[in-house]
Amino acid sequence: MVIAVDGPAASGKGTIARALARHYGLPHLDTGLLYRAVAATVLRGGLDPTLEADAVSACGFEDELLADAWLRTDDVGKIASVVSAHPRVRAALLARQKAFATQPGGAVLDGRDIGTVIAPDADAKLFIQATPEIRAERRHRELQKAGLAPDMDTVLADIRARDERDSSRSDAPMVAAQDAVLLDTTTLSIEAAVQRAVELVETQR
Ligand code: DC
Repeated sequence: MVIAVDGPAASGKGTIARALARHYGLPHLDTGLLYRAVAATVLRGGLDPTLEADAVSACGFEDELLADAWLRTDDVGKIASVVSAHPRVRAALLARQKAFATQPGGAVLDGRDIGTVIAPDADAKLFIQATPEIRAERRHRELQKAGLAPDMDTVLADIRARDERDSSRSDAPMVAAQDAVLLDTTTLSIEAAVQRAVELVETQR
């Protein structure tokens, strides 16, 4: 079984995708991490993320980089959103994601374009959403736990800017696939959201 989980930053899609993978005993790929690895390579090399050629040259990163905790920071996430708008970057990362999605036995992938581009024939498709305000609150809490003291208005502005960039790019924009089921996690606990996600997968498979 192939399960596609899409949605914006801090919607809960990563947590839900990991829980679904555990529940069904499937391998999981966080595709955002690939774009984050490109962003990290651009930053380390002093390259310009807005230049497609610079971003493309950063697509040959080593797999070990994917385990680097720095990739999960907001600074890298922001640049990941910028490099992900370049069609040649998306093309460079496509084969790896498609291969993961079509491996024998199935898989769970989460990202922005899984249901539309990477795994259009997925057995189950979820699009996770939540209001920008609650997503900013979650991100704010995470950052505080990590010892940072970000300003709430800045976190919310960053979330809105990322949504706008990810959904307005011309190549594979963030959008719910026509056959995706929407799951709004705004008022749900993690446990309730995961339970609902399993129910929704069961109705589709
Ligand atoms: O899910 P994330 O926050 O780790 O993703 C970081 C950025 O990568 C996101 O802002 C847009 C890009 N991305 C994408 O364009 N397509 C995907 N399938 C996953 C992520």
